[in-house]
Amino acid sequence: MPSPKIAPSILSGDFANLGRDCQKMVANGPEWLHVDVMDGHFVPNISFGPMVVEAVRRSVPREQVMLDCHMMVSNPKKWVEPIAKAGGDQYTFHFEAADDVQGTIDLIRKHGMRVGLAIKPKTDIKEAFPYINKVDMVLVMTVEPGFGGQKFMPDMMPKVEAIRAKSAEIDLQVDGGLGPENVELAAKAGANVIVAGTSVYKSADPKSTIAKLRESVTI
Ligand code: DX5
Ligand code: ZN
Repeated sequence: MPSPKIAPSILSGDFANLGRDCQKMVANGPEWLHVDVMDGHFVPNISFGPMVVEAVRRSVPREQVMLDCHMMVSNPKKWVEPIAKAGGDQYTFHFEAADDVQGTIDLIRKHGMRVGLAIKPKTDIKEAFPYINKVDMVLVMTVEPGFGGQKFMPDMMPKVEAIRAKSAEIDLQVDGGLGPENVELAAKAGANVIVAGTSVYKSADPKSTIAKLRESVTI
């Protein structure tokens, strides 16, 4: 199994002080920062776009942390170049939004980023099977994308198991409602990349929450 990675979602951060807030979170030692880009079209919410990703990148250099960009957008090809230029390290697009999955993968690679493929709760996991050996990561959503602070859907775990059964090596991410109380369930199913918004940002001690999450994935 690939190494555990904890990815706090800056969606739960302080947008009025985003740079300092990202630096503070990076000081807690996460492997990645999870950056949720929402276009108000693919999902019923708007967060921010490439200009803000670029500002985040300036606040936390690449040597310190990887920017894991979760692109909840209707036209994933359109934002590949802007996000690469902004300093994104990984570009995760939604299967449901792509009319040309392979072409999107190729375009992301051409721009030097790692590739992630995300699957919404209602999408059959079999749709991802043909791409498992072509992407660096599969993201199994454990809430309907669009908002932080929703309830974790444990019934998504068979999807995680199905992907892990097909590849021991792939990074397998879960996103939505994760915290110390359910991370073991996800880890047991085979997830090694844990996105955590509310549970880390609202924790009294984010550093120990990140460490706790990582420990559960390691066991
Ligand atoms: C939801 C986003 C998540 C969100 C997670 O659409 O993709 O990354 O920020 O937040 P929590 O951990 O609060 O569910
Ligand atoms: Zn996300």
